[in-house]
Amino acid sequence: MDKRVYIRTYGCQMNERESESLAAILVGSGYEIANDEGAADIILLNTCSVREQAEAKAIGKSNLISRGKNREKIVGIIGCMAQNLADILPKKSPNARLIVGPNRIEKVPAYLDQLLRDSNRRIIDTEMGAIDPHFAAARDEKKVKTSMFVSIMQGCNMGCAYCIVPKTRGPERYRPMEEIVREVRWLAERGTKEVTLLGQIVNNYGANCMPYVNGKSPFVQLLEKIQQIDGIRRIRFLSPHPKGFKSDLIDAYQNLPKLCPQVHLPLQSGSDAVLRAMKRPYGGEQFLAIVGALREKVPTIALSTDIIVGFPGETEADFEKTCDFFDEVKFDMAFIFKYSVRPRTAAARLGDQIPREVKEARNQILLERVERYSRRYNELMVGEAKEVLVESWAKRGPRRLEGFTPERKKVIFAGTEDCIGQTVDILIESCTTSTLFGRIV
Ligand code: 5AD
Ligand code: SF4
Repeated sequence: MDKRVYIRTYGCQMNERESESLAAILVGSGYEIANDEGAADIILLNTCSVREQAEAKAIGKSNLISRGKNREKIVGIIGCMAQNLADILPKKSPNARLIVGPNRIEKVPAYLDQLLRDSNRRIIDTEMGAIDPHFAAARDEKKVKTSMFVSIMQGCNMGCAYCIVPKTRGPERYRPMEEIVREVRWLAERGTKEVTLLGQIVNNYGANCMPYVNGKSPFVQLLEKIQQIDGIRRIRFLSPHPKGFKSDLIDAYQNLPKLCPQVHLPLQSGSDAVLRAMKRPYGGEQFLAIVGALREKVPTIALSTDIIVGFPGETEADFEKTCDFFDEVKFDMAFIFKYSVRPRTAAARLGDQIPREVKEARNQILLERVERYSRRYNELMVGEAKEVLVESWAKRGPRRLEGFTPERKKVIFAGTEDCIGQTVDILIESCTTSTLFGRIV
């Protein structure tokens, strides 16, 4: 049998980055990466567990593969769902011969070797070890692009009542600072201009083992080191937690010119009672204080968030408070999620109290509000010249390029191939809620 692997990724940016590392180490072990399922002998699904729907989708997909022309292929389920459902997956996805949690993905090539030798085997690995330094930094040199993700830590020590992630990814473990810096330098030498640092709670980096230096947290120290790397023009990170968003990080927006004026800061709810029930260790006032301090430093900073509607006990009045929060902060983008009970989380014992129709209605109301403020934010840019970092050809339209402003707003404009990887000044001429359109000036 040939050794061609197709990797399909569900879920967050962390999964995307891990699929990228996996592809690189598979190539290093003599496998080929296929661009589509049909051309592959092995299909790996890198899965997510954050909501029930994400799990149902991946299980459905693995069962679909076992029918028809793909029957002969090896199917593997890796990532968070493999960890979360390891005991029932052999029954639910009987064709999956490889089940590997997100902390053991570096073992996948060796496991595939074994499965290819022995067609009767199934391998399950849900160990929770230290971060493998080789895997964390693994990359295919040919796949280096203008903007890249860099994972700086693994796991999460918070105990948000709704969240399965601490169960699937385990406790926080951090990569050494010098390893991360070396990786970013390596990327910069190969043309990367923008890095997005990834972690479940990225600003918690180093929290329980690295010292503060001159009043600066290990995370801010890391940002300062990356600021000094030649070739890197933009630094972003995903996702911070309000708890660790202290003045040293807020000051960084003034002190570090490469740090982009954009923050994705999950609020989850605008009601203090719901935040308490969710075990989120802050209230609305604290969140507003962070927003105020950020806007004082950078008035046009882009602020986006995550919200869960329909958490058990969320009353109409609680929901109103979340809506009021949108009117006050005017997030320019938000992901709204309908609460999904995750077995084994603290909130699971509260059941699913809010009827589906109510969640749906609240979701709809917030989506309209998000759209209103996204449009407003984009409209304010029309008529301005923005520095755009060009990433690729746009999907639609001939000879049109796609890039991003420092606020990470997508811009489409007419241009030539040599713009890719460069920053160009674009006069913004029009917009939709999600995209800006303009021309080179
Ligand atoms: N139900 C709905 N949304 C959830 N999230 C996390 N857990 C759940 C859940 N059980 C959302 C949070 C988080 C985002 C990644 O997913 O808003 O910030
Ligand atoms: Fe989940 Fe909370 Fe950790 Fe985010 S911080 S991953 S929401 S437990």
